Order: sequence, then C-alpha cells, then structure tokens
Amino acid sequence: MCGIVGYIGKNEASPILIKGLQKLEYRGYDSAGIAVYNNGINVVKTKGRLVDLDEKVKSLGGVSGTMGIGHTRWATHGAPSDINSHPHTSMSGKITVVHNGIIENYLQLKADLEKEGYKFVSETDTEVVAHLFDFYYDGDMVDTLIKVIDKIRGSYALAVMCTEKPDEIVAVRKDSPMLIGLGDGENYIASDIPAVLEYTKDYYLLNDNEIVVLKRDGVTVLDMDKNEIKKDIYNVTWDISSAEKGGYDYFMLKEIMEQPKAIKDTIHPRIADGEIKLDDVKYTDDDIKNIGRIHIIACGSAYHAGIVGKYVIEDLARIPVEVDLASEFRYRNPILNKNDVCLIISQSGETADTLAALREAKRQGVRILSIVNVVGSSIARESDDVLYTWAGPEIAVATTKGYSTQVALMYLIGLKFGQVRGFVSDEKAKAMVSELDKIPEYIEKLLTLDKEIEGMAKEHASSENVFIIGRGIDYAASLEGSLKIKEISYIHSEAYAAGELKHGTISLIEEGTLVIAVATQDNLYEKLVSNVKEVKARGAYVIAIAKEGNTEIGEVADKVIYIPNTDDKLTASLSAIPMQLFAYHVAVERGCDIDKPRNLAKSVTVE
Ligand code: F6R
Repeated sequence: MCGIVGYIGKNEASPILIKGLQKLEYRGYDSAGIAVYNNGINVVKTKGRLVDLDEKVKSLGGVSGTMGIGHTRWATHGAPSDINSHPHTSMSGKITVVHNGIIENYLQLKADLEKEGYKFVSETDTEVVAHLFDFYYDGDMVDTLIKVIDKIRGSYALAVMCTEKPDEIVAVRKDSPMLIGLGDGENYIASDIPAVLEYTKDYYLLNDNEIVVLKRDGVTVLDMDKNEIKKDIYNVTWDISSAEKGGYDYFMLKEIMEQPKAIKDTIHPRIADGEIKLDDVKYTDDDIKNIGRIHIIACGSAYHAGIVGKYVIEDLARIPVEVDLASEFRYRNPILNKNDVCLIISQSGETADTLAALREAKRQGVRILSIVNVVGSSIARESDDVLYTWAGPEIAVATTKGYSTQVALMYLIGLKFGQVRGFVSDEKAKAMVSELDKIPEYIEKLLTLDKEIEGMAKEHASSENVFIIGRGIDYAASLEGSLKIKEISYIHSEAYAAGELKHGTISLIEEGTLVIAVATQDNLYEKLVSNVKEVKARGAYVIAIAKEGNTEIGEVADKVIYIPNTDDKLTASLSAIPMQLFAYHVAVERGCDIDKPRNLAKSVTVE
C-alpha cells in the first residue's frame, strides 16, 4: 500500500506534492511526509492525515524548493508514528527516499549495514534503502540505484533524491505501481493518475525494473543494463472532475450514484443489435467450447462478484466454476488443467495477492482472462486477455461501482459462453440481453429510495449485529452487503446462506436483532419467506429485499424494499444498491470516516 509522488520543475514543489498525496490518500492515510530540495533536503513528516501534514508545513512557514518527493503511508513495518513516516533519510543526510511496498530482506540488510556503522532510527523496512543507497553512492544515481536493486528483495516503487543532485530524482518500480507524468519543463512521479491529473494528461506506465531519471527538461527510462527504453505516451481520457467529489459529501455516495453510468459504459460497447460481442478478448468459439473449468480468483468484494459469477456461469454456460480467495489460491497447490481458464477479478489491478495468484496460474500454463478497472495496471498487463470494467476512477475505499461493473461482466460472460456452448438459446439470450440493458435504468429507480433507506439506517444505526440472509444468488449478494456494512460502519455483520442459519447461527438471533433478508429468487422465494418466519419467531427485526409484485413477504417482514422485477439471475445488480445505501447511511449516522474506514486502504499492494 502507500502512495508516492515526486515533482521536479519550475514551481514550488510542496503544494504540488501535498495536493498529489491528497489524491492518493485512498492508498493509505496513517501518516504522510514530503522532502523538498533547497540547497539541502528538508523533510517534513507527521503521523496522521494529509491535513496534519499540510498544517505542519504551514506552521513552518512553508517548505521552499522546486524538486521534491512525498508519501502517504499505510503502515506495514512499524506503527504509524512521526519517525516511521516517510520520507526516510540516510544517516549522513545525503539520501532521501520514499517507498511503496515491502523490502522482504530488510532485517538481513539492516544487520549488514549496522556492522558498517549505520544507525537506524525507525522500525521501517524502508530505512534500509536510504542507508544502502548512501553506502553504495558513487556520484552516479543510476549506478547506485542498480546496486541497491540488486541487494533488495520484495516489492517497491521507490523515488530517491540526493543532496548532491539538485536537478534529478531517480525512481524504480517492482510489483508496486508507479507512473510518470509528463509536463512542459516539469515532470512527475505518482502511484496513480489522480495525483498528477491537475497538471498533465500525458504519462508513461512503468514496467517492473524500469529505472527512471526525472529531470526538469525530460524523463529517461532505462533498463537494468542502462539501455534507454522507448516508452509509449498514454493519455488520460477522463477528467479531473471524475476523480473529485462533485458536490457529494463523500466519494462513496458519488460512486454509488454513478453506478447506472458505470454499468452502461461497461455493457453497452459489448452489446450490438441485441447480441453480446466480447471483441476485446481473443476467445474463438472453439476456445469457449473447450474450456474445462473456470477458476475465479479475487479478494474482498471482487471475490463476491466472483461468487455471483459462479452461480451465473455454471447455470448459463454449464462450465464448472471454482471461486478462490487469491490469498488462499496462491498457497493451496491448486489443480489446474490445460483447458482451464483463470478469471482474475480486480478493480485496482494491483492487489498483491491477486497478482501473485495470477502469476502462479500463469506459471502452470493456464490462460488468464482478467476483469480490471484500472487500465494498464499490473494485472491487466500480465493477463492474456482483459475485459475492462469502465467504471472510471474509484476513490472511496469501499467499492461500489467497481463491484457492480464486475457483476455486470459476469452476466456478459455467462450469457456469451452459454450461447456459444449451446445452453442458451438465441431467444433466451436476446431476452436476457434486453433485461441487462435495462439494469442502469432499474438502478436509477432504486437510487430514488435513498431517503427512505436513510430513514431505515437512522433507526438501526445503533445495532450491534446485523445478519444478512439469502439463497442462491441472493446469498452471493448478501456476502457483499455484509462486507459493505461492516467495513464502513464497524457494525459486526455476517452473511448467511438462509438455509444454513438453523445449523448454529440462529442461536445469535434475539429480540431486536436486525436481519436483512434478500428474497429475489422466484424458485427460492417461499423457502426464504419461511426463513424470515423462523427469525421473526425469535424476535428479529427484518428488512426484506424482494422483487416488485412479490408482496407476500411484506406480511412477515417488518419492512420491505422492492427492487424492479427482472430476470432472477440479474438481481444481484439490483439488491446491491439498497444494501450499499443502507451501509452508507448507517456509517454517516455513526459518524464514521466513510471514504477512509479505519485500518483499510484502497489498493492492497502488500500480501
Ligand atoms: C471492499 C473492497 C475490497 C476490494 C479488495 C480487492 O469494499 O473494496 O474488499 O474489493 O481489496 O480489491 P481489487 O478489486 O482492487 O483487487
């Protein structure tokens, strides 16, 4: 995790660095710091948020200079504290570094450096890089960086400044994201585009082990043998406003409201004349017919989208689907066959466990199809085929539109594969595509329930426990609803397959316990109504989510939220919305930091 920025140019660096870091706060926000060159390197860093850093800089009367690096941290080694914050400086004061990632062999390196007389002041892994750079420094930043890279193991996006080099920042990445923003007489380093979008739309994406020399008048990218690499310039096609709140109190609410557009943008280019065209992947009909098994691999909400995918793809395409948490898959010695496909799902495209699982599957020779939101991210680049979710930048730590667009792609894949394999007739496909096309409109309608759901949330904001129950696809949807509630409101929440409740968990239901019952599946509706009766009999307060027209549940539940009546398989896209809104309003009512829940970060680039 963590976010890094760098700037060299003609303007004051510190406001540019701090603003950039604010855009990266989603990557970590327990401490932050900047280092600015001005006849020496001035470092200002502090535990806390960017506002604390900004205040500290202001209290010092600003930090002047036109070259600098900055960092916003999500602690891995060493608690959040002033001293553990980045940038870190070598003992001599000559070298200053910022780092995103983990130096796995830092203890050994630390012991070696201590023998050489280096004294460490922080508990971080990063500090070894500053001292190591100092140890090898021979007047040439690139040569020294190569020597350092040779010694360190792990993941890193590193940017380094030296007191002897007033016109140069060097940087490198391996398994942690980094891009280079290209300006006129000024250039930038950033972990992600929003940090530099105010200044430039042109950027280079870096591959692992590419070294960057950032100067005012240009950027040179080198390989480890110092050969210059010609990089393609990418151009950002979205605007800064799409990375800002646009009048909403929180990014999460803005992103919830953006879901109709995000889904439209994701599915429309792939539907022509009522037919699904997955032209962005190189799968022939034979490839699709020959798939033996699909292994869906992801983390968190993306994993929940994968569980929806299992129900949908198995049912429509009759391909066996396994869904694995990436952190489990990579270590469980999975059985993969040559006709299998690994379907990797990731909003950020940088999640460390997911990327490692992808690499393991690739090592075993399995074809990789990924669903990714961030264009050019590591997962996208390392996959054989990519289906992008066109959700735009997602800033709130809790995913909403990222998840919804992943689910939408599950439908497209299930339908397309089902049609090619002969399990979905053209007629059925047309009907489902037509319903899929209406999902954005249905979501618009559901979003108008915002006030009503806010009222329910206010009533239940002091709940200590919430149980969400469902069967089939509703169970998959419950998992995501439950994660939304717990991660942003800190209420203990659990999702249960409704039929499983009586095997233990029902003993937790007592007078007033809040149960959300998702009941959108026609063939399971009556069973779900019975499950609601069971929890009601034990004192639960039940909010049901059901399809319009299915009013029977209203006789047993305390409240019902009706979603538009659509194909049973598509309901996961709709039931998610009231649960997101409920989680959001409960968290607001409880005074939580919605966009930056405690202990979390948006892009989990550590194992
Ligand atoms: C929860 C959430 C996380 C992510 C997970 C995977 O709201 O956002 O659970 O879904 O960390 O992230 P990506 O999709 O970027 O791989």
